[in-house]
Amino acid sequence: MQKYLYYITHLDKLFDPNVKVLSLSFPYVLLGAAILITIILFAFSAAISLYKIKTKFLKDIQTKLLERFNALDSEHKILQSLYKRVTSAPALTNFDEKVWHEEEAEFIFELNEQLSLALERSSVAKKLVESIHNFFNVQRTILLLLEKKTNTLKIEHALGLEKSSSQAVSLKDGESISGFILAQNKPILVADLEKDHYFKAMNKEAYLSGNFIGVPIRFQNDSLGILHVCNKKNGRTFSKSDFSFLINVAKVGSIAFKNITLYEQINESYLKAIAALASAIDARDPYTKWHSENVTRYCLAIGKELNLVQHDQEMLNRAALLHDVGKIGIRDNVLLKIDKLTDEEYEQIKMHPLKGDEIVKELSFLKEASALIRHHHERFDGKGYPDKLVGHAIEFGARIIAVADSFDAMTTDRPYRKALTLNEAMADLEKCKNAQFDPEIVDSFIKVLKRTPEILSPPHK
Ligand SMILES: [Fe+2]
Repeated sequence: MQKYLYYITHLDKLFDPNVKVLSLSFPYVLLGAAILITIILFAFSAAISLYKIKTKFLKDIQTKLLERFNALDSEHKILQSLYKRVTSAPALTNFDEKVWHEEEAEFIFELNEQLSLALERSSVAKKLVESIHNFFNVQRTILLLLEKKTNTLKIEHALGLEKSSSQAVSLKDGESISGFILAQNKPILVADLEKDHYFKAMNKEAYLSGNFIGVPIRFQNDSLGILHVCNKKNGRTFSKSDFSFLINVAKVGSIAFKNITLYEQINESYLKAIAALASAIDARDPYTKWHSENVTRYCLAIGKELNLVQHDQEMLNRAALLHDVGKIGIRDNVLLKIDKLTDEEYEQIKMHPLKGDEIVKELSFLKEASALIRHHHERFDGKGYPDKLVGHAIEFGARIIAVADSFDAMTTDRPYRKALTLNEAMADLEKCKNAQFDPEIVDSFIKVLKRTPEILSPPHK
């Protein structure tokens, strides 16, 4: 200790290299202390820098999280408001709250009357779309109907649409805006589709744009389709009153479509009963076992080729199935005779179109078909029976049955000869054009046979 006190009082001795403290000369001790202090200062400064970096990093993360939270909050608010708008839409459908103008009431009554007279789905769709299109004075009106078997929505009728876009649409339940309306069973009013991110994102229907209303067509719990009206031609937007009115118009449409469905079901039952009767007639003769079924298949193919309207196709279907129903009144010994018929027996056979007409004409759903049954053995040149009608005086459907009936007789085995080949039968039809058959019908049938020769080989053969 005394040694240290000595050096403090005699500083000049400190730098004497011969003087040593802790076995080191004093300058070295000072150098070591300086290095140590520098290291401590450097470490301290580094610690402060790291702290600052860490604080800035955490602050940045906090700012970014806050920004994201605000964005999510804003999106949530938009979605919530859209959801409220969509879910609150049915509140606008309250029929009692709406006071109708005279014009609207008149429109509903007239539409209801017209739709109730239509007996075909396509007629109801056409009338409904045309009436709405004109009443609302819009750019586009689109009616989609639900196909139950495939659970898809397809355009049944539309106005103001490109033909290509009407053919391409086939939407599953829940898909696009129409599928959404169907799944939710909620009508919607979109102010501007381009600005509506929610519906714009789900839309797959090119014909939907701008300002539009979409309403479900539904009868009780049965979804039938969707109806859209898009953009008023005068540039005004759809009002809540328009929205409410269209919902009620759709209700009128839904009743009409439901009636059509019931009518179709009744028709189907009738047709099944007719088909059973036709099979019973054919079954009497093993050579004509599938005759009525074959003739019906050929008739419908010809009708399709000639673009017959749905109603005429339906009448043709019924008449073709029952064209030989009058044979029910011919005794087996005549009907099934293999040997040549006597004149008297042949006269009995020739009575079957008249007897068929008498059997079915009292049934209202077969009244139109009865004329085709009566005249299916008339010839184009007037040499047929029973009324010897000539050319176009014979009902078009009866002329079709005549061709199909003869073709089936040619292409099936009979007790007195083997069936002709397809080419031989087509050649025979050609030979009989103008004389026995209407040439237009023969030409159409030959086109069908050349295009789809498999029509001759149904699964039961
Ligand atoms: Fe016949």
